[in-house]
Amino acid sequence: MTFKEKIHTENPKGYAYIYTIGCQMNTYDTERLFFILGGLGYVKTNDLHRADIIVCNTCSIREKAQEKAFSFLGRVPPLKKAKPHLITIMTGCVAQQEAEEVFKRNACIDIVLGTQAFSRLGGHIMNVLNGRGQITDVEDSPAIYEAMPDFSFIDNDKVSRFVTIMQGCDNFCTYCVVPYVRGRERSRTPESIVEEISILADAGVKEVTLLGQNVNSYGQKEQICSFSDLLEQISRVSGIERIRFATSHPKDLSDDLIYAIRDIDKVCNQLHLPVQSGSNRILKKMNRGYTKEQYLERVGKLRKNCPSIALSSDMIIGFPSETRADFDETMDLVRRVEFDGIFAFAYSDRPQAPASKFSDGVEDAEKMERLNELIQFQDEMTHQKNQALVGAWEQVLVEGLSQKKRHDEGENPSDFPQMTGRTESGKIVHFYGNNVCPGEILDVKIKYAYPHSLWAVQGR
Ligand code: SAH
Ligand code: SF4
Ligand code: F3S
Repeated sequence: MTFKEKIHTENPKGYAYIYTIGCQMNTYDTERLFFILGGLGYVKTNDLHRADIIVCNTCSIREKAQEKAFSFLGRVPPLKKAKPHLITIMTGCVAQQEAEEVFKRNACIDIVLGTQAFSRLGGHIMNVLNGRGQITDVEDSPAIYEAMPDFSFIDNDKVSRFVTIMQGCDNFCTYCVVPYVRGRERSRTPESIVEEISILADAGVKEVTLLGQNVNSYGQKEQICSFSDLLEQISRVSGIERIRFATSHPKDLSDDLIYAIRDIDKVCNQLHLPVQSGSNRILKKMNRGYTKEQYLERVGKLRKNCPSIALSSDMIIGFPSETRADFDETMDLVRRVEFDGIFAFAYSDRPQAPASKFSDGVEDAEKMERLNELIQFQDEMTHQKNQALVGAWEQVLVEGLSQKKRHDEGENPSDFPQMTGRTESGKIVHFYGNNVCPGEILDVKIKYAYPHSLWAVQGR
């Protein structure tokens, strides 16, 4: 325990609970919020009833995600009754999108903190404690990640961490709310990113996942450094063994980046490359900036240079005016690419995004039917891809004890603990660990394939 941790744990100003919804960027932002709250004297708690500050970090990508935030916050009024000094904060994309409107749905919220307003949180908390009433701050503030993380305030036992390298998005896909709630695209400097990753490496982190809505365009606007140069710089940080990144936009996937994945050892043989649809007509209406043929060309070039690369994707099913023939184009693309995994979503109208004004919405029942067809096909494909690994040797970065006990295929004569880790391609592997620690990279032999994970034995 560090000195700072000791002071705060023994004499905290209070406890902070954060409920996180949404993408990996929100997970990263939640850690940032714990650093900020830690600096103010608040200690993290996992017990909602113990909290003096409750933060709901929200997502508005689909209606369901947005409603999840309000349903969580519906639990606050009785807690506040029991503890009147309790401070409730809504942050993230719904906060940015709804601003003061939030108070109409939940009067118990004290602070609406936009996605760019983190640096002002301390002042707002002070004002609420001083009885200044409800506060809304959805103003811009460009450099929210420039302060370096302080690990004395969070659980620092993870071997793999996210690092947001850029914020916002300039692509304006017609279905998407992100450009409206995260603002214009801006990249952090390579110096600040490398410094943060060096701090993580010193704290024992072995793997980083770089985050941005479109990492392929990293640094282009500011002309500071290309994404492949950034990967090269990060690969020189000693202690970091694996580098992943998301999300890559197909229209900006350069040959340079393909060569970087092939040539930089620490860059994992894995790529998340959302296609959204296989129909050129729909891709155009989505404003994605590529055709099905161009997407397949990029996948071909990737596979030629990195033959064993694992590919995953996002799909939107039931975009306005999508016909059965458009959906068949999507199925055709999915069959041709043979993804390792996909995330498929039913299209959801977002009032701020232009597609919400498009006519010819697809009936819910039709959307679900198509979605299920796609998911069923992909589940089988994912299982097949896992089965193809049975008998192979893989290197696994050990993450820790298995959360969920697998019904294993092997024997456990020595009562070793069940551990979990990931292959370079990102697949989850369970195994009995003989004297292994999180952070180690081990050779294992794959023995059995589950639909979404693998069973292995330690070897060599
Ligand atoms: N920047 C990333 C994705 C960010 S959002 C990219 O360009 O791929 C994550 C995923 O949510 C998207 O890939 C898309 O598949 C899905 N999504 C975004 N808006 C949506 C909407 N209105 N309805 C359903 N799914 C949506
Ligand atoms: Fe949304 Fe498109 Fe930007 Fe991704 S690239 S965040 S889908 S607007
Ligand atoms: Fe959701 Fe905002 Fe991420 S809308 S997906 S939390 S950028």
